[in-house]
Amino acid sequence: MNLVFLGPPGSGKGTQAAKLSEKLGLVHLSTGDMLREAVKRASELGRKAEEYMKRGELVPDDLIIGLIQDKLRDGELDGGFILDGFPRTIPQAEGLKQMLENNDINLYKAILFQVDDEEVVRRLSGRWYCPQCSAGYNYPAQMPRVEGRCDNDDTELQRRPDDEESVVRNRLKVYLKQTKPIEDFYRGESILTEVPAQQPPEKVFEALVKEVSSQV
Ligand code: AP5
Repeated sequence: MNLVFLGPPGSGKGTQAAKLSEKLGLVHLSTGDMLREAVKRASELGRKAEEYMKRGELVPDDLIIGLIQDKLRDGELDGGFILDGFPRTIPQAEGLKQMLENNDINLYKAILFQVDDEEVVRRLSGRWYCPQCSAGYNYPAQMPRVEGRCDNDDTELQRRPDDEESVVRNRLKVYLKQTKPIEDFYRGESILTEVPAQQPPEKVFEALVKEVSSQV
């Protein structure tokens, strides 16, 4: 099964992709995680991407399309995949369509996670993570045992620089302008389906599993 996860920042794409990929044995590919890793390594891609990410702007299409192309070419997506955070512009959606056609691969569904802007700001203002083991926390719902320290290894927790409120508001604007048009792109392909995401994560997961259930 091959899926695309769409939705504004903080709508829960990453959380749900991790759970569903585990349940179904799919590869979970997050372009955001790949870019953050590249920034951490200070690779050429990371150096090019960093300034865009800090501002909450999108990284240029050619850099991102190249990343997905490499994964397809290396056969890493052959067993089924969830694309989390890609595509994010019409050129990326068209690029993906072409790449999949060239490799004789079908997209089963594009799943849109729906939440409102204030919920996004609330969620991202409360997000913390451990730089050592990547464990995630969300204040006040998922607090660590000791405030500011990871439960697993006691490392000091950090926030993503782009989770600062002014950057989140810019990410929401960018989503509306550059990413929302993709909803119509996939509606036109008759594969867009919506999951109400402004409810507890386990309820979102139930709704998600129902949406893909004809293949589970
Ligand atoms: P990326 O990392 O993809 O950021 P995003 O789409 O803005 O996604 P987030 O990770 O913030 O949110 P999410 O929807 O995954 O929610 P999550 O599950 O984490 O991209 C970052 C940057 O990289 C972009 O701004 C851009 O610069 C660049 N980039 C990436 N892809 C690109 C592309 N294709 N083209 C160009 N540039 C690209 O949840 C968020 C928080 O909420 C967590 O703390 C979680 O615990 C909590 N939460 C989740 N679900 C719930 C729930 N149901 N109820 C309450 N809390 C919840």
